[in-house]
Amino acid sequence: MKTQVIPANHPNVAQKAAEIIQSGDVVAIPTETVYGLAANGLSEDAVSRIFEVKGRPSDNPLILHICDATQIDLYCHDVPQSAYRLAQLFWPGPLTMVLPAKDTVPKRTTGGLSTVALRCPDSEIARQIIQLSGVPLAAPSANISGKPSTTTAEHVLHDHGGKIPLIVDGGACRVGVESTIVDLTEERPRLLRPGGITPEQLMAVLGDLVVDKAVTAQIDKDAVVKAPGMKYRHYAPTEPVIIVAGEREKAAAYIHRHFEPGDRVLCFEEELPLYADCNPLSYGKEADVSTLSAGLFAALRELDDGSIGKVYARCPVGGGVAYAVQNRLKKAAAFHIVDAEVAQ
Ligand code: TXA
Ligand code: MG
Repeated sequence: MKTQVIPANHPNVAQKAAEIIQSGDVVAIPTETVYGLAANGLSEDAVSRIFEVKGRPSDNPLILHICDATQIDLYCHDVPQSAYRLAQLFWPGPLTMVLPAKDTVPKRTTGGLSTVALRCPDSEIARQIIQLSGVPLAAPSANISGKPSTTTAEHVLHDHGGKIPLIVDGGACRVGVESTIVDLTEERPRLLRPGGITPEQLMAVLGDLVVDKAVTAQIDKDAVVKAPGMKYRHYAPTEPVIIVAGEREKAAAYIHRHFEPGDRVLCFEEELPLYADCNPLSYGKEADVSTLSAGLFAALRELDDGSIGKVYARCPVGGGVAYAVQNRLKKAAAFHIVDAEVAQ
């Protein structure tokens, strides 16, 4: 199959994408977070195509993308007031809410769960495609399962060229990490995945937020977890990634002591001069964390190269969007973190 890449501003591209989706096939679409592999979320067969293209385990549910908050009640029941309030404040935007699913949502989409994850993306072209398709779109991140998410059309072409008919090219994604996921089906709201909508923003509305253990630690692959996707190895280049935490000069000293030929350093732009002899790659500015979230996956993809030994990575500290960057980087490192303040 030949994969067409068509710019998002091309006339008729949304119509063409919608027609492919209506025919039951998969289209890669840009969103503000990462690219998605989209298909009709109400069709078992179309959703099966997504799992097949992505190589994704079938117990890992998909997010259903809708084009406005009035559609929540079409797919969910017993919706708490807090969900409408969050939608009003943060949709369209990088927030996914897990809610009790109506029978209108196929089990193939929810991975057999009684809940469904809903999101309304802040990308004009994505919402236009949803609207023209006339159905909500199931869409996982458009990477091969286990690999870093795709934040450009070139990334998607690399992973899925020849397997899907169309990639809608909306340029580089603005946020760069996947949406925040909050589960509203239990007594207490639970953060399943940090993202562009921060824990602080959620707390301000909900007044309470439990952080799921899958966010903060490595989960055993046989464990029972709230977000089934969290237990799989994620975002991982082929080589080991080691996060070196601690103050700038101490981290540089640690890395220089341990660096071997073939290793790479993934650091902040401000730190490049410190690693001039360590083949460094910057993923953004420490002083502007939105550049780190926007650049992280492209950098992890660039480092996914069989010839590299180890990657020493620098990670931003603090809350807000930095919390999401920490989470993705820790997962890429399988939570292997060295504290340069104490380690030799
Ligand atoms: O930003 C995003 O959310 C992107 C773009 C394309 O919208 N999508 C995305 O999808 O990241 P995916 O499939 O790569 O990640 C969705 C995560 C998975 O970890 C999955 O297990 C979890 O959401 N999830 C989906 N439905 C769920 C549910 N009903 N309960 C708990 N977790 C759920
Ligand atoms: Mg994903």
